[in-house]
Amino acid sequence: MLFPDFRARRLREKEAFRRMIRETTLTVDDFILPLFAIEGKGIKNPIASMPGQFQLTCDYLVKTVQEAQDAGLAAVMLFGLPDKKDPLATRAYASDGIVQKAIKAVKDAVPGMAVITDVCLCQYTDHGHCGMVENGRIDNDASLELIAKTALSHAKAGADMVAPSDMMDGRVGEIRDTLDEEGFSDIPIMSYAVKYASAYYGPFRQAADSAPQFGDRRSYQMDPANSLEAIREATMDVEEGADIIMVKPALPYLDIIRRLKDEIDLPIAAYSVSGEYAMIKAAELMGWVDGKKVMMETLLSIKRAGADTILTYFALEAARELNR
Ligand code: PBG
Ligand code: ZN
Repeated sequence: MLFPDFRARRLREKEAFRRMIRETTLTVDDFILPLFAIEGKGIKNPIASMPGQFQLTCDYLVKTVQEAQDAGLAAVMLFGLPDKKDPLATRAYASDGIVQKAIKAVKDAVPGMAVITDVCLCQYTDHGHCGMVENGRIDNDASLELIAKTALSHAKAGADMVAPSDMMDGRVGEIRDTLDEEGFSDIPIMSYAVKYASAYYGPFRQAADSAPQFGDRRSYQMDPANSLEAIREATMDVEEGADIIMVKPALPYLDIIRRLKDEIDLPIAAYSVSGEYAMIKAAELMGWVDGKKVMMETLLSIKRAGADTILTYFALEAARELNR
């Protein structure tokens, strides 16, 4: 049917019609809030490049998680900033490490909140890489045991789900085996399966103090130009026992989210990363865009692309917006 028989505007005229035919709607169930835990007490350190986000000691962390629960959020993702770094990332898998303590604090105070943990070594290694370094190179196989050990320590501390973000080959299988052997066969793995070597992680590396001290992450994170590889990475992690497949970043990779949604029969998560958050906040603070509207439109676009769940620093703000 063509104009004038067909008029596309007929169904746009009234709010009731717009609601009736709306294909995608956001709910508080869609969001996971990433949080940064630091050692100490009574500290709430603003992260300069991420306005509204903080490094939190466990007391403040628990308060924020309580607020997240009050706003209706179901899950948080924890990152830790350790008190010291070394070549073997020993504070990543210590039972009294920062994330392990944060998990316990949150589960004790807000047991209904699902705690997902980022499993990586880069905040804990003195060189800032996500795996072990041998002769200036990232040693894939030598990293697997420590990564699995880190995931296990999170499960032992009470984590509800683990999310490896290191991009070493074979780590999902290694983590699955380790968790199963140790009695944690019910703990799901959300794999950062499709993680690009992205400049959008800039603010995070400041927030988590995890910038690599030499070189970059392009020998393990994916080339932004590639999408076939995304299918391969996701398929590999499905085979190794992943329960949720993540794409990261989100906004510059909406095509990848859609492709995985169509080709992979597991839930797809999208991580809207620090740089995506920072850009919107910066433009809002300059008065150049309506920050709340751009936030909601951006989150909607990620869901429309195919994300079943969205990791976003906007989680709390968006949840409150939806509750208004
Ligand atoms: C660490 C990790 C990173 C992010 C999540 N986990 C940074 C990186 O790979 O350099 C990025 C998150 C963000 O930018 O919001 N492996
Ligand atoms: Zn890392």
